[in-house]
Formats: sequence, structure tokens, C-alpha cells
Amino acid sequence: MHLRLKFRTAGVLGGCLTFCLIAASCQSTEQLQQDIYYTNGRDLYIKKCQNCHGSKGEGLADLYPPLTDTIWMKSNKHQLPALIKHGKNEMPAAEDMANIDIAQVVVFITNSFGNKQGMYTPEQVASDLTKSGSD
Ligand code: HEC
Repeated sequence: MHLRLKFRTAGVLGGCLTFCLIAASCQSTEQLQQDIYYTNGRDLYIKKCQNCHGSKGEGLADLYPPLTDTIWMKSNKHQLPALIKHGKNEMPAAEDMANIDIAQVVVFITNSFGNKQGMYTPEQVASDLTKSGSD
């Protein structure tokens, strides 16, 4: 009887421990995914955006706006997919970019240059493109 109780306690403790370990590894899986998006997004940024917006997101004089305005970036995050995909005035369209590419470049620019907005998924890109009426 006494022994059984001990086993049960051990079982409960073991269960808690397993749960904690799983919870912790879930969190780091999410972080890992964001890191992958960020790294791929940086490559895309270098290829497709840096010429105009600069390696530090500093922009170029009056020609190309900087990407360092964290308040602007935060309040306009959901417009970014349409802007990137369809362009605006002097900013060229990038119709060839898939939702995953857009998500990655958005994760990069919204977590660089002083911005810190976390993860953004291809599903959110799809939904934001639909909402902006420019899918
Ligand atoms: C040929 C130069 C050029 C390239 C390449 C370019 N942009 Fe732009 N970008 C601009 C210009 C010009 C504007 C201002 C558009 C306007 O509002 O008239 C702009 C605006 C923006 C803005 C809004 C900033 C603000 O404060 O208004 C963001 C964000 C942005 N670009 C991100 C990107 C990303 C990400 C890429 C790469 C996928 C990219 N741009 C590629 C020229 C460029």
C-alpha cells in the first residue's frame, strides 16, 4: 500500500515533468521557426529590397523611405504584404513572391532595424492580402 502510493506520486511527478519538457520544447520550436523565417527573410531582403532601403533599413534620402520607424511598421504591418506584392509608386511590385517569401521578408523587416514584432505566417499573409482586396 505504502509502496503503491509512492509509485503514484512518482507517476504524477513524472507526468508533470514530461508536460513541462514538452511545453518548453514547443516554445523553442516556435522560436526556431521564427529564426528560420528571419534568416531566409534576410536573404530575400538583400536580393530584393536592400538596394533601395539600405542594409540597415536606413532608406535613401527622400527617394526611399527608411524601415526604422517602429510605430509605422507596427500600425501598418497588415498592409505590408499588399505593398510588397503589388508595389506602390516608385516601389516595384514583386508579384513573383509566394506567401511564404512575403512572410519571411516581413518577419525580417519587422524584427530588424529596431523593430521587434515576432512571428508572421504565410496564412496571415494570405488573410491580409484578401482583406486588402488585392489577393
Ligand atoms: C526600387 C526601389 C525599391 C525596392 C527594390 C523596394 N522598395 Fe520599398 N519602397 C520604395 C519606395 C519609393 C517606397 C515609398 C512608396 C510610396 O509610399 O510612395 C517604398 C516603401 C516601402 C515601405 C513603406 C515604408 C514607409 O514608411 O512608407 C516598406 C515597408 C517597404 N517599402 C518595404 C520593402 C520591401 C520589404 C522590399 C523588398 C521586397 C522593398 N520595399 C523593395 C522603394 C523600393
